[in-house]
Amino acid sequence: MNTIYFDRRVSDEVRRQELFDGQVFVYSQTPGALKLIEFARGMIREAFGSLDPLTAQHDMPVEQYAAVLADLKPKFIHHPNSKKFIPELLSDLGCDLSKTYFDVPRMRTATSDDYLTTGIAYAFHPHRDTWYSAPLCQVNFWIPVFEIESGQSMAFHPYYWSHPVRNSSSGYNYAEWNKTSRVNAVQHIKSDTRVQPKPLEPVEPEPQLRVITKAGGILVFSGAHLHSTVPNFSGKTRFSIDFRTVHIDDVAAFRGAHNVDSSCTGTCMNDYLRGTDLSHIPEDLVAAYEPGPKVLAERQTHARSV
Ligand SMILES: [Fe+2]
Repeated sequence: MNTIYFDRRVSDEVRRQELFDGQVFVYSQTPGALKLIEFARGMIREAFGSLDPLTAQHDMPVEQYAAVLADLKPKFIHHPNSKKFIPELLSDLGCDLSKTYFDVPRMRTATSDDYLTTGIAYAFHPHRDTWYSAPLCQVNFWIPVFEIESGQSMAFHPYYWSHPVRNSSSGYNYAEWNKTSRVNAVQHIKSDTRVQPKPLEPVEPEPQLRVITKAGGILVFSGAHLHSTVPNFSGKTRFSIDFRTVHIDDVAAFRGAHNVDSSCTGTCMNDYLRGTDLSHIPEDLVAAYEPGPKVLAERQTHARSV
């Protein structure tokens, strides 16, 4: 990993190859991204009523705040507008919608001063999405909903693109997690007892890289990157949207980033929806990803060498 491309207009093919090599792409606001954040802002403002969403945390008991988010976040995720604006944004960036599959966008909040960092507002420790049963070809998109400063952002830990971290991903299986832990998010207010894949050794916080765009700007990066929520002491809550994509040609060819240390099982492959008609990835391909990224990476290497 050594490059950040700003507003780089290359084919999606070339971009994915660069992403799989660990490079990061950053885009200025596109029409689709602006529609998405405007829509999100409307929902957020409605949820907090007369309070400023960026500072509402200072005026509400944390339980009440968690309850607002517990209502707001699923509403946003499942709203038809969310599924409408994502394909538009992807199209803005040159993705072929007939071959690009996306999962529903998540709304994330990073509150300030450790107000709420668990459950519904989980502050992500350094992790790779590939520890959570994401395929090695997954591409992540991250968009701030309001203007942010460095202390409200997310961080990449570029050293670890090619260096393993001892971690507990071997105990994670996506289907298991969905059955047991996801539904409980809102109950974890003071602490979070859900078992998540975590580093089992200290992660060097530096060097780390934070890319600050305007609201509606877009970070695009491989799901194999080690990344984290920056501890927020700005006094203001950060709202962001993220979602993920895979390209069906990469899925079929078992193409993607290298696997340095992910050893979970299962796959989230069935979550992605095609940009054109929201259809799922064919079942046989989903099933092929069940063994998890570690086994798949071996197949990937094998596929390249024949
Ligand atoms: Fe992540």
